[in-house]
Amino acid sequence: MDLFEFNKIAMAVLGTVFIVMCLNFAADGLFHSENPEQKGYAIEMAEASTGGETAPAGPAYEPISAMLASADIGAGEKVFKKCAACHDASAGGKNKVGPALYEIVNRNIASTDGFSYSGALKEFAAGKQWTYEDLNGFLFKPKAYVKGTSMGFGGIKKVADRANLVAYLRSQAASPAALPAE
Ligand code: HEC
Repeated sequence: MDLFEFNKIAMAVLGTVFIVMCLNFAADGLFHSENPEQKGYAIEMAEASTGGETAPAGPAYEPISAMLASADIGAGEKVFKKCAACHDASAGGKNKVGPALYEIVNRNIASTDGFSYSGALKEFAAGKQWTYEDLNGFLFKPKAYVKGTSMGFGGIKKVADRANLVAYLRSQAASPAALPAE
């Protein structure tokens, strides 16, 4: 190739580079005009539910979190007799009057297939899971904790009974949920 031909090719290459650069600048201008103040969408987070704060007004009850590590699972199984008329907490247990409770700790609230929950519990659920303290509050006085729940049960007043019971429920799982941090 002679020098003239070489120059033509070189110009063509440079021209292409130039056009690509211009397109880049233009795209930057189009799509990069403004940095959003916050990346992504703001997601409204519900306050971490600890039971006490979100619970409707009612008689005070003690938290169980600190008691779980040393709770008596065997005693909790006995307390569960009060629930067994309506609930099965074993692996593969079926829904009865109340929903199956296997792996209830950290399970999505009101999420058992084939159980027809009350509107009240579904509304209370709002994407939340059963934390230890939510279970504590609910089991202390179901109808105060979830106003309008269809669970016909008065509640368990003794904190030790609730701690043992929840420790038993925790044990009814393939791999029990982590205990609350101290
Ligand atoms: C008379 C029947 C009955 C008794 C007794 C009863 N429950 Fe329930 N339970 C229900 C019903 C019905 C529901 C569904 C409530 C709703 O939809 O509002 C329920 C819901 C629950 C839930 C929520 C489950 C989920 O999927 O979100 C838990 C946890 C629970 N019961 C635990 C217990 C425990 C523990 C006991 C014993 C201390 C107990 N229940 C005693 C009938 C009962």
